[in-house]
Amino acid sequence: MTVLPVEERSLDPIPTINHFDSTVDEKGLCLAQTLLPHDKVFGLGQTLGSLNKRGKLYRLYATDDPVHTPDKECLYGSHPFLIIVGANTFGLFLDYPGEIIIDIGFTDLDLLQIRINNCDIDIYVFECKRILDIVREYLTVTGSPYVPPKWAFGYQQSRWSYPDESTILEIGKTFRQKGFPCDAIYMDIDYMDAYKVFTISEQRFKNFEGFVDLMKREGFRLVPIIDPAVKVEEGYNVYDDGVKKGFFCKSARDGLFFAAVWPGFAHLPDFHNNDVRKWWGSLHKRLLEAGIEGFWNDMNEPSIFYTPEAVSGFYDIVEQMRHRGFDREKIDFKSNRSEFFEDIVQTGDDGISVPHNRIHNLYGFGMAQATVEGFNQYRPGQRYLLLTRSSCTGVHRIAGIWTGDNMSWWEHLLSHIRMLMSLSMTGFFYSGADLGGFGCDTHAELMIRWMQLGVFSPLCRNHSAMGTRFQEPWAFGDKPFDIMREAMRLRYALLPYTYSEYMRCVRELEPFISPLIFHFDTVDVEDQFMYGGSIMAAPVCQSNAKGRYVNLPSVRWLLWRFRRFDERDVAVYEPGVYYISAELDEMLIFIKENTLVSMTQPVDFIGHRTCKSLTVIGFVTDKATFTYYEDDGETFKYKDGSFSTLSITIEKEDDDYSIMLAKDEHADVPIEINELIFEIYDAQGHSICRRIVE
Ligand code: GLC
Repeated sequence: MTVLPVEERSLDPIPTINHFDSTVDEKGLCLAQTLLPHDKVFGLGQTLGSLNKRGKLYRLYATDDPVHTPDKECLYGSHPFLIIVGANTFGLFLDYPGEIIIDIGFTDLDLLQIRINNCDIDIYVFECKRILDIVREYLTVTGSPYVPPKWAFGYQQSRWSYPDESTILEIGKTFRQKGFPCDAIYMDIDYMDAYKVFTISEQRFKNFEGFVDLMKREGFRLVPIIDPAVKVEEGYNVYDDGVKKGFFCKSARDGLFFAAVWPGFAHLPDFHNNDVRKWWGSLHKRLLEAGIEGFWNDMNEPSIFYTPEAVSGFYDIVEQMRHRGFDREKIDFKSNRSEFFEDIVQTGDDGISVPHNRIHNLYGFGMAQATVEGFNQYRPGQRYLLLTRSSCTGVHRIAGIWTGDNMSWWEHLLSHIRMLMSLSMTGFFYSGADLGGFGCDTHAELMIRWMQLGVFSPLCRNHSAMGTRFQEPWAFGDKPFDIMREAMRLRYALLPYTYSEYMRCVRELEPFISPLIFHFDTVDVEDQFMYGGSIMAAPVCQSNAKGRYVNLPSVRWLLWRFRRFDERDVAVYEPGVYYISAELDEMLIFIKENTLVSMTQPVDFIGHRTCKSLTVIGFVTDKATFTYYEDDGETFKYKDGSFSTLSITIEKEDDDYSIMLAKDEHADVPIEINELIFEIYDAQGHSICRRIVE
């Protein structure tokens, strides 16, 4: 959308927006709607608080705040899509790149109020009866979700930092020696030379190109971090070039805007401009030519620790304190202060200056687009892994997100579950939180439970902060390690199901992870979710819990109390609420009545291996269908129809079942399954097994 200068915006007439009272004042637009007692509000992507967003005020203004306590109003992104479910069910999407305040019964119990200090905004109201149709309409308007390469569905290991070749090599070797599956290892800021973006420390990486190649041969992708702030240092090519070309953000007062981030004083690239995005993309050349296939874009809210003025202000205050004592009022050393952002000016493709705050939430989007420019230039046609910390609606088409600096707290494990659902319904299918927690020390029980949740987190990455306890899977002793390895083997075993369902959801524009209320008339459940169409996950998210209450809505469910991927301990449950035990080495996985799940043998890494043997587990009391999906896993050709499917239908006939298979094969992607094993459970939980060999 275009951002008009204030003078050009129209104040009249006051727009009519279905379901809302709207008012326009000298500041901008205000929307209000009365909520009935049983109305629920979902959406808002990456936000704190409950899944039903009522009872909190949300500020959609991308902010780097590493302490995610319940009182915080904003996180790193802005996803202004709401679904109101109740007497009047509808969806609302606010297409606006600046700050939006959404007060959902915080100030006034039964009032939803939205405040935007501008009137140049596009508002979409989706009036559909079914919640899933509202999501579909929203995704039709905003675009189809991002699809990473297939290997990105594997387990990923990160730490701030694995700073050099030998550490990374050692980590990789340990994964393989111990048989814990892993597809990617991350490189945090210490791989660079003095935090200068697009440099690689020659000292710590003697032969970077050779190293990337070596790791890839062992089945590991390396994923380097890229931060936007460019160190101010003459002779550093990115700085020199950026200054020469006028590619950095300006200060509203004079000259270029200075921020202090990891490298010290730095300039911020102006991603609002297409030439800058192309330039930034081209800077990925060396990394991409070395064989890197994924990046994580960090600090792109943008995060600003200090500015030179704030630093000198700090010295002034210290100086004054020496003479006049401590004045608490005057001390404001906080990072990311609003005055920093008020000082930034960006320039559009048309050469017109825009105050940064008008388009603040687009900064991370611009950086992600710039990174995609690089991928398109140096790896055309190839899928890539791209995570961005800051995002807004639209980014969901080109990147996934991790949810930033969480803590090793049980509360954040629960937040992870809720955010997965809220993000998926706003289009961010490929997302996840740092497993085990980023800040603070984690411990064995929390790590195990989080890893069990990770099995069902589309992005499954264990990441932790400098100075905290190490949290690689082997850091807690043999017993926790064995439990976590079994959980991750399950993730790899489930890949045929996960990938098929992910791609179905992308094609059908249906959230991959969804709350139960999207499928069943059910009471509020915020800690269970559908993973694709057949599996419901009910992770244990409390300390010392030896089980949990589970709400099983509407249909019968087959519980698989999981310990090992090749062991079954199953039971059928009628609809209802149950307390079900789950020891630390057990996970509660539910298969919905009349659906199928597909599995294969787990591997050490996903690589390019195709699936030869498929086990179909079904809970069939009538009829169930599952569509197995294959594509090349690494290009965008699937968009042009280069994919194959095998539709499997199982129908109950008296005491037996009929099995129907229908292949729809594309010549480029043959389905290479030569063995199909069926394990079908009936309403009593009795199973039959069949094997079909081609
Ligand atoms: C930020 C990121 C975190 C990263 C750290 C150092 O806090 O959110 O993931 O490890 O910076 O780069």
